[in-house]
Order: sequence, then C-alpha cells, then structure tokens
Amino acid sequence: MPYSKVTGLGYYLPETIVTNADLAAQMDTSDEWIVERTGIRERRFFKEGVDTVSNMGARAARIAMDRAGRKPEDIDMVVFATLSPDYYFPGCGVLAQRELGLRQIPCFDIRQQCGGFVYALSLADQYIRTGFAKKVLVIGSEIQSNVMEISDRGRNMAAIFGDGAGALLLEAHDEAGKGLLSTHLHSDGTHAEELMVEHIGSRRKQRITHAMIDDGSMLPYMNGKMVFQHAVRYFPEVIREALTANNLKESDIDIFVPHQANARITQAVQKELGLRDDQVVSNIHKYGNTTAGSIPIALTEAWEEGRVKEGDLVCLAAFGSGFMWASTLIRW
Ligand code: UT7
Repeated sequence: MPYSKVTGLGYYLPETIVTNADLAAQMDTSDEWIVERTGIRERRFFKEGVDTVSNMGARAARIAMDRAGRKPEDIDMVVFATLSPDYYFPGCGVLAQRELGLRQIPCFDIRQQCGGFVYALSLADQYIRTGFAKKVLVIGSEIQSNVMEISDRGRNMAAIFGDGAGALLLEAHDEAGKGLLSTHLHSDGTHAEELMVEHIGSRRKQRITHAMIDDGSMLPYMNGKMVFQHAVRYFPEVIREALTANNLKESDIDIFVPHQANARITQAVQKELGLRDDQVVSNIHKYGNTTAGSIPIALTEAWEEGRVKEGDLVCLAAFGSGFMWASTLIRW
C-alpha cells in the first residue's frame, strides 16, 4: 500500500499589512487588548482586483510544485479548503485548477473552517493510500477581511482574522514509517451556531434582506469563551489520540504546528504537552488567524527557517467552527 509524504510547500500573503493601531483607529480597541488576549500584532488584508482566494491558493500551490520539481501535468487531484470561496458555487478547487493549468483531474472543495487544512490532508492521504491518486495538491486559502466589520460591533472578530494562503504537495511513496503516519478527525455539531456566519444561507425564502445587512447578522458570530474552552480541551486530546495510534508519546514530537487561532490557546496546549518554545511554531503575531491557510503558512515558514528537518516528527492540529478538530503526525 502506498503512503503519502510532503514533497513541496508554499504560501502566499497579500501585501497590505494592517496593524492593531490601524484597527484601533477605526473601532474601539487597542493594541494592548489585542496583543494580551490573542498575541496578534498585525495581519494581512487582500487587495481587490489582485488577490482572490483561488489565485492566492494557486500562487501558494505553484511554489509547492516548483519546490517539488513538478509540472502542472503531474498533478492528479486538488483538495481546496476554504470557508471564503470566490463564488457561492462553483468552488475554488476548479478555479485553482484553471489558474495552474492542471489537467481535467478531480478537484474538491471542503469547508471545514479552521479544521479545513488537516481535513484536506486526510482526504488527500486516503486517496493516495488507496492508489487513486499519486500527486495531490492540498490548498488552504482565506479572505476574511471583507466579511468582518471593522467597527465596534464587529470588533471581537475583526481583531483576530486575516487573509492568506498555503499549500502542500502530497505524493505517494512506498517507505513505511515516513510521511503522513495517520490523520484523526472529529466533529460535534452540537455547537454549530457558536462560531458561524448565518446569512447568506438557504434557510430563508429571501436569502438577502436589508434587515440582515442592517442588523449585522451577515457578519460572523463567535462565542469566543466557549470556543476557547473547547479548543484547549480538544487540541491535546486529538494530539494524544494520534500519538497513541502510532505508539509515540508527547516527548517524541520534534515540532508542533497548530492552527494559529490564538497565542493563548497555543501556549495552553504547549504547556499541556510539555513542549519547549523552540518546538512550537507560532506566527499569529504577523498574520492573525487565517483559518484554513494558517497551518500550511506556519509549516512552510518553519520549514524555510530550517526548523523542520529530515526525520523529525511533525505534529499538526486544529480546532474550529463546527466544532471540528483534527490532527496528523508526519515523519519528515
Ligand atoms: O480558530 C478557531 C476560532 N477562534 C478561536 O479559537 C478564538 C477563541 N477565543 C478567543 O480567542 C477569545 O475568546 C477572544 C480573543 C475572542 C476574546 O477574548 P476573551 O478574553 O474571551 O474576551 P471576551 O470575549 O470575554 O471579552 C472581554 C471584553 C468584553 O467587554 P466587557 O463585556 O468585559 O465589557 C468585550 O466586549 O473585551 C471586549 N472586547 C474587546 N475589547 C477591545 C471584545 N473584542 C474586543 C476588541 N477590543 N477587539
């Protein structure tokens, strides 16, 4: 049975940097509040006419393909994770396919929010393990700056989220114990409405009304405290599940790349797992929470900095809207 491994990594970030001071000029917040509660100092906002979720994802994917020495005709599947697609439909997978000049291959879109990238990796891994695909582009990309409202009523979301994209190329190989060791996925719809965008959904006869625009119900809603409490519980749980499944323990982890939700969540998980600072990748201060983009951006940056080395045990994990949570272990 083939296994999958990462052969290329890339990311793309829009140029525009928005600092906490920039936000504080437009809404009732402060650099101190945002840094203390989240660790975020700045984030990127996309430029209309230049950046789209699909083309940012494609730019990241092109870098990953180049690093792996692969051409468009080599790719035989795309899994694109996003909660902020260019169009209501079709999804971004086919748009990235077109942008990259790929063959008429299957292109998935998945919408698992902050869990999106690990879910996408899992899907790609399963298709590789069954022999259906050999080279799969896994892309996570988000534009969130235009769904949040930079205003007092939107401030708890606007302080946190940013735009960005990352991608990995997964390829089939035969060496057991190398590459993706396993993926572990969970969800619990009980709390679906605790982190959501309600409108524009299909539940109402009239999908868009002036009232929705006026009352702010088209903006994302988050019960921050509840999300926080579940995140700090489920991150360690799903990581331990992965370790146990592979007869490994916390101290075997060389580098941990969590979804960048909040620096305080990362610190709590780090403490729980007994990891040192140099084993934990955190770039949230620069980019905020880029949802499905955050793990591939953070992993690629860490790899570029030489922090991910051959033979390392890399742990990826995420928690987010759904709720959904997931982990994977990669022997690099
Ligand atoms: O990626 C997965 C999804 N998201 C997460 O994982 C996020 C999880 N949750 C969190 O990170 C935190 O709950 C937040 C950072 C969102 C909020 O931190 P908190 O310590 O839970 O604050 P809070 O929501 O309890 O708000 C405390 C106060 C409130 O004021 P009052 O009621 O005490 O007067 C808020 O209105 O802070 C206020 N507040 C703000 N103040 C300044 C909320 N947003 C802001 C803001 N600037 N941007």
